[in-house]
Amino acid sequence: SPSVSFLGDDGLENPFRRYSTVAIVGAGSVGSTLAYTALVRGAARRVVLYDVNAPKVKAEAADIGHGIEFIPQATIEGSDDIEICRDADIVVFTAGAKQDPGQSRMELAAKTVGLVKKVLPTLVEIAPHAIQIMVTNPVDVVTYAAQKLTGLPPSQVFGSGTVLDSSRLRFQISRECGVAVQNVHAYILGEHGDSEVPMWSSASIAGVPLLEWLGADGEPVFTDELRRRIGHDVVHAAYSIIEGKGATNYAVGLSVTRIIEAVLRNEHRVLPISTQVAGELAGVGDVCLSMPTVVDRAGAGARLAIPMSAQELNLLRSSAEHIRQAARQLGF
Ligand code: LAC
Repeated sequence: SPSVSFLGDDGLENPFRRYSTVAIVGAGSVGSTLAYTALVRGAARRVVLYDVNAPKVKAEAADIGHGIEFIPQATIEGSDDIEICRDADIVVFTAGAKQDPGQSRMELAAKTVGLVKKVLPTLVEIAPHAIQIMVTNPVDVVTYAAQKLTGLPPSQVFGSGTVLDSSRLRFQISRECGVAVQNVHAYILGEHGDSEVPMWSSASIAGVPLLEWLGADGEPVFTDELRRRIGHDVVHAAYSIIEGKGATNYAVGLSVTRIIEAVLRNEHRVLPISTQVAGELAGVGDVCLSMPTVVDRAGAGARLAIPMSAQELNLLRSSAEHIRQAARQLGF
């Protein structure tokens, strides 16, 4: 794993290290909401916001900065000069085209990868030890391209993946069973997009296998029909929110803040982030997709091969092929 800048010269974790810096590239609705969320949750001591649109990025930073008195001690700066990202501990890439109503994330691939090609090399040059978290869509293709373009270790470049989708799934399950979402363990894996896969067979509620969860009538709650409806609603959540308000920003800001916390606090937290699979999925290789992954200060660590049904494995393989096709079309 990369020698991240949390360590002091003696190689020990430096408890008195001044503070960790998160650089957010892109001051659109996702980037600005992420900056706000990371500060409100006290995830980062210093946030810098970079965007080519100077008035916008300075206004977003000022509007958040004016509330700093009311949140855990922190600083925020905004600039149209990429130098503001220098020596960041984490760089989060949110810049890029956003989905229009009805548009799939994959349709953004060429435009977004073009922007990543333009900006990422400079970010790596000025923040060589930073953990690079790709958020912009299609995040799996973008993450794969970022790894190929930078040549950084796969642990140091990963995507936000299906952390958000898994949160949407857990939210729906929680509402159906009446148990706090924190007691629900369930993953959406594969593409952060139309081919994503709900992992019902390994889902559980407070230790009870989800498929065995019974209602007051003694009957299974999560029938085939209910699971189909929940799966559909999760896969299409972004589309319906974009229809209603033009973009998604709050839940993705919270999800990426969760990933930032796992890195900066060296949590070894298992999160379904998008990384390059390496043979752990039989028949799937050379692609980035979301699997449960240990996240800590070195970035993306071990991936967990969770149990899954034959149908889930087949759907995951299809999702992987969908992402590979898109990456291949862009020359990766
Ligand atoms: C969503 C965007 C972040 O799923 O892809 O809301």
